[in-house]
Amino acid sequence: MAETFRADMLQGKVAFVAGASSGINQRIAERLATAGAKVAMISRSEEKIGLAAEKIREQGGDALGMAADVRDYDSVAATLKKARDHYGEIDIVLSGAAGNFVAPALGMSANGFRTVVDIDLNGTFNVLRAAFEHLKKPGASLISITAPQAVKPQIYQAHVCAAKAGVNMLTRCLAMEWGPAGVRVNAVSPGPIGDTEGMARLAPTPEIEANYKAQLALREFGTKDDIADTCLFLCSDAGRYITGTIIDCDGGTALGDASSDALSRPE
Ligand code: COA
Ligand code: NAP
Repeated sequence: MAETFRADMLQGKVAFVAGASSGINQRIAERLATAGAKVAMISRSEEKIGLAAEKIREQGGDALGMAADVRDYDSVAATLKKARDHYGEIDIVLSGAAGNFVAPALGMSANGFRTVVDIDLNGTFNVLRAAFEHLKKPGASLISITAPQAVKPQIYQAHVCAAKAGVNMLTRCLAMEWGPAGVRVNAVSPGPIGDTEGMARLAPTPEIEANYKAQLALREFGTKDDIADTCLFLCSDAGRYITGTIIDCDGGTALGDASSDALSRPE
């Protein structure tokens, strides 16, 4: 039997990671590199993405950092072409660039709403659509990073809920259209992940953080490594028959409120 889970299971593969200058996506890029993939990575800030790529190279990996805003199709397409020219056909694409702020719908301008939809949803379309012509086919694996807000409405998150719901549906549609070409399209939905910008915005005080944890079935925040490992599994040979799925790696977030207060016990 072939040994699927090897330390170097992505040796010879080429990955492209969007939104990789910090947080969860940066850790995913690092994990792919550790498993042997050459990693092209983008974010808006030339300096931040340059440093993130340099960190991978210092650890013995191969990485190329480029600046691009996922809202700008042409600029994303140019970085994908550069990645392919530099490393060859692309095996793995990770679309994770996102923006979030906490605001009621009535405290949000049309531009505020549009900005988040543009980064999260349109940006994901741009990355996946522009990647297609550069993919290794058959065999490529595309993964978007979505969020529990896609399926679980949350106050002050109307923009993110709408955008990530779109990412989930885009995942399913592209999986159907691109499956016959041998391209798998999936998404990973992280729950609250500690030590990230996302949770710094959503849970800015210890009280709010404790409240989040109390509602989680697993009662603790996840780690960036939890998400990186899930992505590694999905894009490896172990995930070769998986397409069109949204994998929840969320401590039970999507299940709903699991706090003991939420139980109605029979007398
Ligand atoms: N409440 C209400 N509206 C807000 C807001 C807030 N806290 N923060 C930004 N906005 C609005 C702005 O007022 C602006 O609308 P306006 O032109 O009508 O005033 C609109 O959003 C765009 O803001 P701008 O700062 O120009 O956007 P940007 O493209 O420079 O940055 C953001 C995008 C706003 C999402 C920014 O927070 C960002 O860069 N985030 C990336 C990091 C991140 O969010 N990480 C967590 C990922 S889960
Ligand atoms: P983060 O550190 O802020 O990461 C966001 C990344 O996207 C950064 O590298 C940022 O880099 C880049 N980016 C933002 N706007 C961009 C744009 N327009 N074009 C290109 N790159 C852009 O956030 P995070 O908390 O780790 O979140 C990462 C992903 O996980 C997001 O998709 C988020 O929705 C999802 N998620 C997070 C959590 C959580 O608990 N943190 C939970 C559920 C889902 P630049 O600033 O350099 O552009």
